[in-house]
Amino acid sequence: MTQHLRLGVNIDHVATVRNARGGRDPDTVRAAHLIAKGGGDSITAHLREDRRHITDDDIRRLKAEVPLPLNMEMAATDEMVAIALQVRPHAVCIVPERRAELTTEGGLDVVSARAALGPRIARLVEAGIQVALFIDPDPVQVEATKQVGASALEFHTGEYCNAPNGDTQGGLTRAKELKRLEDASARAAAIGLEVHAGHGLTVANVGPVARIPSVVELNIGHAIVAEAIFIGFEAAIRQMRAAMDRARQGTSSPVAAGRRSA
Ligand code: PXP
Repeated sequence: MTQHLRLGVNIDHVATVRNARGGRDPDTVRAAHLIAKGGGDSITAHLREDRRHITDDDIRRLKAEVPLPLNMEMAATDEMVAIALQVRPHAVCIVPERRAELTTEGGLDVVSARAALGPRIARLVEAGIQVALFIDPDPVQVEATKQVGASALEFHTGEYCNAPNGDTQGGLTRAKELKRLEDASARAAAIGLEVHAGHGLTVANVGPVARIPSVVELNIGHAIVAEAIFIGFEAAIRQMRAAMDRARQGTSSPVAAGRRSA
């Protein structure tokens, strides 16, 4: 039987809309309660250093009030490690952060940051928190992730999502980027790392990534929150869940779409 592919729903942009007016609406905790109803498995939220969307209060309330695993995305700073050690999310995904960026652009350079990452990862692991590193599908970064003490990684799927579909005379194509993801995922799994993926995934492009057998978790936010404006948050999660399940089970049948494998 195909392994269940977990869906982590990133709710950063629920907070973005809330922050546009201040106050509490839309409430991130209310959104998080709908994740399980829509067929999602966990909450993903990025506490950025500039607090542009998710706040410290969001992270604390999500952990305290919602009975789903919480995946906290964060930069590898002492401030963020201290918050994670206090809040104790189920998992942390360490991401690179630049203040001017619109979203997380590219993966961590684990090779260069090894000295800074190692001790911080060790403190999180000691506290029982699963640590994943957000990296590009590059075999050198995969090996470095293992060496620095993380037990999981998340592949940045942005290049795959942005690559044109079709031949561009030796340049980036969707098929080449997919092959990089497939090869890097197989290598990561072979050396004992849990494989996640995310960034830029939509109902239209999620299929080939969901079919990679060693990928066990996808973290998806923007496309779900965007679609939620038109069809509602729970329905948008359900739609993504169905697209993932169809791909994982190798069927385009709508009958199989809502079914979850074990
Ligand atoms: N995974 C990581 C590590 C991210 O930084 C993000 C964006 O915050 C996502 C997944 C979700 O990306 P998107 O919002 O494009 O689905």
